[in-house]
Amino acid sequence: MEQTAKLIVDGKTYEFPLLKGSEGEQAIDISLLRSRTGLVTYDPGYANTGSCKSSITFMDGEKGILRYRGIPVEQLAEHSTFVETAYLLINGNLPDRKQLTRFSVMLNDHSLVHEDMREFFQHFPRRAHPMGILSSMVNALRFFYPELPDQDEEINITTTRLLSKVRTMAAMSYKISRGHRVVYPRPDLLYAANFLNMMFDSPVLPYRLDPEVVHALNVFWILHADHEQNSSTAAVRLVGSSRVNLYAAISAGINALWGPLHGGANQAVVEMLTRIQESGGDPAPFVARAKDKNDSFRLMGFGHRVYKTYDPRAKIMKRVCDQVLARLRVKDPLLDIARRLEETALKDSYFIDHYLYPNVDFYSGIVLRAMGIPLNMFTVMFAIGRLPGWITQWKESIDDPEGKLHRPRQVYTGETKRDFVPLEER
Ligand code: CMC
Repeated sequence: MEQTAKLIVDGKTYEFPLLKGSEGEQAIDISLLRSRTGLVTYDPGYANTGSCKSSITFMDGEKGILRYRGIPVEQLAEHSTFVETAYLLINGNLPDRKQLTRFSVMLNDHSLVHEDMREFFQHFPRRAHPMGILSSMVNALRFFYPELPDQDEEINITTTRLLSKVRTMAAMSYKISRGHRVVYPRPDLLYAANFLNMMFDSPVLPYRLDPEVVHALNVFWILHADHEQNSSTAAVRLVGSSRVNLYAAISAGINALWGPLHGGANQAVVEMLTRIQESGGDPAPFVARAKDKNDSFRLMGFGHRVYKTYDPRAKIMKRVCDQVLARLRVKDPLLDIARRLEETALKDSYFIDHYLYPNVDFYSGIVLRAMGIPLNMFTVMFAIGRLPGWITQWKESIDDPEGKLHRPRQVYTGETKRDFVPLEER
């Protein structure tokens, strides 16, 4: 028998179906709420709203669980590569050897960026933030690669183009911002190694690839690959629901990610740790400020809408951080400050009572710094990682037979009807 939830309004009872997900979580299907009752729901920030059914990523915020297509992120971080994980997300299952090779070859084939696009980079102001540049460039890709008539082919090629070219464009923008010669992708290098080479190889100092650093970058991207209905993914789905092209939808996701409450937190964490260092290295005053309700300051890299325990990605990132710094023999004073800050906050009743733990961004910036990635590129690194998730979620929403134009309602609180007053009478 179908389970239902009852809603009583003015003594009248309405029943709505209960939905059950494959991991047992339940939701009330209120899709007929307004037509049956005249009511809408009020849910700021959509904290209680399931906007879709999805079979891509499972999170349990209370237990600290994250799985892509059923596979725990810990296992993927240990055994997989970013490209394989991207394939898993996009296609639903892990590839066999032939499928993986074919996918890698396609990523290589599409890795070049139209030479005219280089011109664009040259004309952004030097201080332009790379996230703004990236979202503009991704939007512009549509004009260089017009739509194909076959829809399946269009989606496959656009997916491959995005995964491959965004990585090339990110490295290109870095080289151009430094006034250096652009390094092209190499067919003999795999995805992450190719990116590092495009970023750091130079005619006067050839870049030496270190397999441990390449592995760390793969793990970094795997940890960011999807996170169900987060702000940027919700933006991609919302913008995509108007049936705009995929490039434009992804460009919207990049802009949502840029903000410091979302992906921009990885840059904000390092800026915060630097401020602590400059003020003498004691995290206590910063913890006190984060607790002060009259101060808008928050501990960056702490807290999460879904996780009410330690972010499982942060645990892995912390381990990777120790490994990369040891491997590269980097002694980063910000790591000591981060550890002290974490220790101070986790002992504090405010953070305990509010379930505030380090999230993925808390240690990731220190990993990126050690690799030589500049601070203003940190969120771009997150964006490259999140691409497979955005693309997969967009595809799922487009294929969803229940999918609709996203168009929330509101509770209007403005003036009621009043008449226009001519200028001379005001
Ligand atoms: N420092 C101090 N207090 C905090 C923090 C923080 N980082 N995060 C939440 N709180 C407090 C907040 O003041 C509020 O307190 P009260 O109930 O007493 O008024 C309570 O916790 C709930 O906060 P909220 O803003 O309603 O919760 P949310 O679910 O909207 O916030 C968040 C999630 C990520 C926006 C928030 O925790 C935050 O601003 N964190 C810092 C930014 C950050 O690290 N973002 C990266 C998130 S992980 C990467 C990603 O997936 O984007």
